[in-house]
Amino acid sequence: MTHTDLRGNPVSTDNPRAIELSEQALVQFQSYFGDPLKTIDAALAEAPDFVMGHVFRATVLCTLAEAQFLGGIAASVEAAEALDAKANDRERKLTAAVRHWLDGDWHAATQIWESVLTNNPRDALALQAAHLADFYRGDSLNLRDRVARVLPAWSSDVPGYSYVLGMQAFGFEECNQYKLAEQTGLRALEIEPRDAWTVHAVAHVLEMQNRYDEGIKFYTSRQQDWAPDNGFAFHNWWHLGLYHIERKEYAEALHIFDTQISPEPSDIGLTLVDATAFLWRLHLYGADVGERWHGIAEKWAEKGPVEAGYYAFNDVHALMAYVAEERIAEAEALLDRMAKVAAKEGTANNAMTREVGLPVGQALLAFGKRDYATTVNRLSDVRHIANRFGGSHAQRDLLNQTMLEAAIRGADRGRALSLINERLAHKPQSPLAWRYHAKLHRVSGDTDAAIQLESKADSLIYPRDVA
Ligand SMILES: [Fe+2]
Repeated sequence: MTHTDLRGNPVSTDNPRAIELSEQALVQFQSYFGDPLKTIDAALAEAPDFVMGHVFRATVLCTLAEAQFLGGIAASVEAAEALDAKANDRERKLTAAVRHWLDGDWHAATQIWESVLTNNPRDALALQAAHLADFYRGDSLNLRDRVARVLPAWSSDVPGYSYVLGMQAFGFEECNQYKLAEQTGLRALEIEPRDAWTVHAVAHVLEMQNRYDEGIKFYTSRQQDWAPDNGFAFHNWWHLGLYHIERKEYAEALHIFDTQISPEPSDIGLTLVDATAFLWRLHLYGADVGERWHGIAEKWAEKGPVEAGYYAFNDVHALMAYVAEERIAEAEALLDRMAKVAAKEGTANNAMTREVGLPVGQALLAFGKRDYATTVNRLSDVRHIANRFGGSHAQRDLLNQTMLEAAIRGADRGRALSLINERLAHKPQSPLAWRYHAKLHRVSGDTDAAIQLESKADSLIYPRDVA
């Protein structure tokens, strides 16, 4: 008799307790509540020959996109491969996918997850792994369409349906389809309010549509659903902090940084990236962040021997921290490492580093050396293809802002104005965009225009209880 999981996917074990525990682990993976690895380890203790247990473990570790987890992935992949004779076709393919990821071929891994989904559209593990791979590979269309291809096989009767809607909401948002994104996200939250990824998808819409005050309300009114004990809370706090930054509430933003985003520098790259990007924004605006860079740069340095050169998006953030902390020698050493990675072929990251990571890194180092013309030129080359090294629109906006700030600081008035025009065209309600405009006039000596634009920016910051 063939056993199946709760969504009807065949599983080559006859141990019901192992299946039950793997279902719990899956919900933990989907919701970011609890520790899916601990739960799957309990399933494997119950049934050491549970192929999907080993595959699940490896897959979850892949989705963290860090070199520090390669050993764990390798151990689980090898355990799954050793059970090949027992495995079914789906399990063999899922094993092959994580083997490709381990070898650095993130595109091949994603193709295999897709082939699994073609035959098993309710494979929630393959779907979430591919969705996160689309995020790391900057594949916006597939963030949306991969979900669309399987969604007809799901319904509200299938466990985990709301998480699939949540993925689609994020995909719509990254394809700039904000209305569909918001509708889909809110529908998912009606089914399951405690869904950190979907809350986040809606928060992205509010960010992109300059609905900052609404964003603060959205997050605070639902805080009990997404914050306590949630593994993704740091990133939702990051988004909440961005709304405060728009309102120029730097003290509040730094309070969120100190208490939620980075109470202490994290060992996890995703968290450290957010901490770094948050401080960099404040750094660009000239806000006083005190000694906060030190711990962040130290942590990147500590992680460097294992992580440097593994994933360009993380490397660029490490470099940002070194530059902000004026640790120029370390920034240069990392850039050398990235140049070596860029010169090679064979992994997804070789191309990401060559096409995006290296030029962005050069731009950041130039910024640190006050060579603003080089910063502008390097970022001008790559900012429109920067999706290739992953991240969201909101995260990659840092490149636009760094380029704009460099143009202002480098007295490249024409370029700065053109970037402000571009920004205001799609962010007309953004106080920050108007503050940049004011700053350009202020540094150009046109004080009257600067005062006018600053008051325009202030006029867009509504009293909190009215917004
Ligand atoms: Fe985000």
